[in-house]
Amino acid sequence: MTSPLIIGNWKLNGTRQKIQESLSILTKEKIIQYKKHIDVAIAPPIVYLSLVNDYLLKNCTYFSNQTKHKYIELCAQNVDINLSGAFTGDISAAMLKDLGVKYVLIGHSERRKYHKENTTYIAKKITTVKKIKLIPILCIGENQQDYDSGSTQLTCAYQIDSVINLTGIQAFKNTIIAYEPIWAIGNGINVCPKHVQSIHEFIRQRIALHDTHIAKQILIQYGGSVNLNNAIQLLEQKDVNGLLIGAASLNMNTFIQIIQTIE
Ligand code: G3H
Repeated sequence: MTSPLIIGNWKLNGTRQKIQESLSILTKEKIIQYKKHIDVAIAPPIVYLSLVNDYLLKNCTYFSNQTKHKYIELCAQNVDINLSGAFTGDISAAMLKDLGVKYVLIGHSERRKYHKENTTYIAKKITTVKKIKLIPILCIGENQQDYDSGSTQLTCAYQIDSVINLTGIQAFKNTIIAYEPIWAIGNGINVCPKHVQSIHEFIRQRIALHDTHIAKQILIQYGGSVNLNNAIQLLEQKDVNGLLIGAASLNMNTFIQIIQTIE
């Protein structure tokens, strides 16, 4: 299994000044450079990707095979399905790549809810992002009602299968899944790590129904009120391969501390 992937999703927060301050704290600590066995990325609002990329290229890089790499990678919070053309207001995967992005969040519950993103649209985004050789992070997870009625597995299975039916299982090679129970996002609810493990295991088994090799290698992140107190316990679970952190990643000291505690 590869290194755990920790992503700070800044959602709709920040100004040029605030982001510059955050980056200066994040890169000054040098903690991320020392943690060679952890992959770290941040997902600022799309309009600030260029600013963040330039900063990281200047202050947070190393050379491997004569190529410059960033210690902290960039993740986009969204992408459109078209690569170019008359689509006013849209941002393509090719443009994201041009800005130094590596990962793209797709189907985040906030996009599903506020922008009515459906399975077909989500599947198209995955296909487009793969075409440009970026790494999609498919976000799935049940709402409160599904959880209360014991339908968590049913919902996750539907969200996975319906996308696979449109993209094909090969699209999940080098794709990431983020399990985020909607009822635990942004409200400080500590989901029991054993419960998280059971759902991650279920997700892996579901992928295995389509392809056992892809199921073995697929990285499954957890997101939903991750903080300094629960991050380690969550990451200790066998099938939890990373964290997608919202609110707690806005405070640089907390975000750094979370990374610091990961062995
Ligand atoms: O993308 C991040 C998730 O939506 C989790 O957000 O850590 O604020 O609950 P949160």
